[in-house]
Amino acid sequence: MRSAPLTLLLSAFLCALGCSDGDGGGEAGGAGPTSGPGGSTTSGSGGTSATTGGTTSGPGGTTSTTAGPTSGSGGAGGDMAGSGGMGGGGSGGSGGADARIPAASASSLKEAGSKANPPILIGAAISGSGLNDANYKRVAAAEHDYVTAENEMKWDALEPQPGSFNYGAADNIVNWATSNGMKVKGHTLVWHNQLPGWANSLSGSTAVEQAIRRHIENVMGHFKSKIKHWDVVNEAVITDSDTGVGNPRMRPSVFFNAMGANFIDFAFQTARAQDPEAKLYYNDYSIDALNDKADYVYEMIKGMVDRGVPIDGVGFQMHIGPPNNEAGGADVAANLKRFSDLGLEVLISEMDINRCGGVVTAEEQLTYYHDIVAACFSLPKCVAITFWGINDGRSWLNSWQGALCNNGQSSQSLLFNDQYQKKETYNKVLDALLGR
Ligand code: XIL
Repeated sequence: MRSAPLTLLLSAFLCALGCSDGDGGGEAGGAGPTSGPGGSTTSGSGGTSATTGGTTSGPGGTTSTTAGPTSGSGGAGGDMAGSGGMGGGGSGGSGGADARIPAASASSLKEAGSKANPPILIGAAISGSGLNDANYKRVAAAEHDYVTAENEMKWDALEPQPGSFNYGAADNIVNWATSNGMKVKGHTLVWHNQLPGWANSLSGSTAVEQAIRRHIENVMGHFKSKIKHWDVVNEAVITDSDTGVGNPRMRPSVFFNAMGANFIDFAFQTARAQDPEAKLYYNDYSIDALNDKADYVYEMIKGMVDRGVPIDGVGFQMHIGPPNNEAGGADVAANLKRFSDLGLEVLISEMDINRCGGVVTAEEQLTYYHDIVAACFSLPKCVAITFWGINDGRSWLNSWQGALCNNGQSSQSLLFNDQYQKKETYNKVLDALLGR
């Protein structure tokens, strides 16, 4: 519905050819929150404070002034790139480069990503059932070098009973990915959804803290040799609308209700202690545009960085279209830039563009795919773009309640059609990855 200004397109393109830092991202726009985390009375380093009771600051308290951005402090750098390392080449690597240099040509998305300088990982959400389909596997491996398990690494799948872990389905995906030379992001350690009943009914801060610790230590320990990227906390913030607008606040959950916003710091600290080499990410939806939720999450993450919580980056799910936000390329560029200016990596972590209900037109979808991918590509600290699925026929949006397609209609949301043929959306994404 909203279209992206062409100026962003142009500046993203020029940046790909080598512009200065500020040009690609535009203004940080709205870096001051419309309402601070915890409501208007909260400020400063207590940024994750609760709206309703709960603890007002993370471990380390609100007084830490010495801790700077922690990305890389645990030795986490260096493993992100597909091949050759994130920092290779003349543009100076992800730490200092002003712009990403595109490959001259590529015959797959992952080739465009790995030949860019610095490289960028191209990911897909992979389902266990998809791996029973030869075409699915072929396209997934040909086009991507980064994998997120669509459901198989969620708490209910991995720890269905307290302290009893079930790794079979996750191992299948991880082993398939690594044997195809792909990296894996663990998704997701602490999330209010897809929790087993026993975890959802815990109460009291000690019980919840112990459950989080056991889960993180066990799961990260199991995958330690194969997975060095983790979504540590997922979707801890809500607004009145799924589009990220109105009254941003901490989401009530078994974790928040017991520990206040402390659960976030605790999860990241536990994860860092378990694997000092792993990249640790916060992940959320409808924080893609410059909206209330993105502003709130920005302040929350800034607070974590300021008080030394070990976070390496932020994943922007980028589910565009109903019921989530729409975000033009200019908004996305400005938003990603302000988060990366905190010293963090940024990732597009679950991209799809839902056409259910005709809210997003075919033409708008092409513009969004191109401009949003270009916005990430033009920012060297945007280290990965993951699509939430391979082909339209298997998209979660076709059946997910709320996505306006649950009458059996296709969401037409991805890069490949039901027959695994490339769609025009694929061409737009490849264009953006080649700086075109
Ligand atoms: C979705 C899966 O795609 C569905 O199969 C499942 O029924 C529900 O979860 N945000 C996330 C993902 O972080 O884990 C969700 O995945 C989509 C929204």
